[in-house]
Amino acid sequence: MIFRQLFEPLSSTYSYLLGCEATGQAVLIDPVIAAMERDLSEISRLGLTLAYSLETHIHADHITAGLELKKRTGSRIAAPACDQLACADVGIAEGTPFRVGNMTLRPIHTPGHTAGHFAYLLDDRVFSGDALLIDGCGRTDFQNGDAEAMYRSVRETLFSLPGEVLVYPAHDYQGRHVSSIAQEMARNPRLGGETTLAEFKNIMANLNLPYPKFIDFAVPGNQRCGVCPPDLPENLKEYCRQMSDSPQG
Ligand SMILES: [Fe+2]
Repeated sequence: MIFRQLFEPLSSTYSYLLGCEATGQAVLIDPVIAAMERDLSEISRLGLTLAYSLETHIHADHITAGLELKKRTGSRIAAPACDQLACADVGIAEGTPFRVGNMTLRPIHTPGHTAGHFAYLLDDRVFSGDALLIDGCGRTDFQNGDAEAMYRSVRETLFSLPGEVLVYPAHDYQGRHVSSIAQEMARNPRLGGETTLAEFKNIMANLNLPYPKFIDFAVPGNQRCGVCPPDLPENLKEYCRQMSDSPQG
């Protein structure tokens, strides 16, 4: 498999490019519109054909590149079926393998950050979206977020994967790239060790996080598979502008 972890610095999002060596077919998980030109260059440089964009959930902190990638490359838009996006070409569901070339991803419903959130398992790695992050987890206080559902998604579902499975999150805010199930089970300060549901709910209820500054534009834009609103305030315009070609993590 050809594999790239691609970072978008404005929202600290990791997108993942997975390419099948035999067929050249590729999927881009959680593409960000501001990084689309960089991602397209990478796809072309690797000689891959983008077959799909694939979402873990409806994002609140960036706009997906799904629709623009479709216009540019003919890629199809895959997103969780339960979110019922009219613009999606393929609805992802638990128990239905998602195939791209010779690669088979196993969708895992992991609600908590959003109700329709999915993680994707591919052999020895899991793309954990905003469910399990390195030493953390996604917030649970908007978009039908639910701390109890998050606790179960991580501890009962993701932590039941083999310990050596590598965890590739949708975000990291401190420059970390990858973890493992065993490491998160042992060390995740919110969800690891013997943390009880009550303790986790207490942690999540007391994070005192600010209201996400882009959510009112990102969610409707992403419900349309990636439409930048024409009326973005000046201080948010960079979310829809192509990022510069600086070296990325
Ligand atoms: Fe998110």
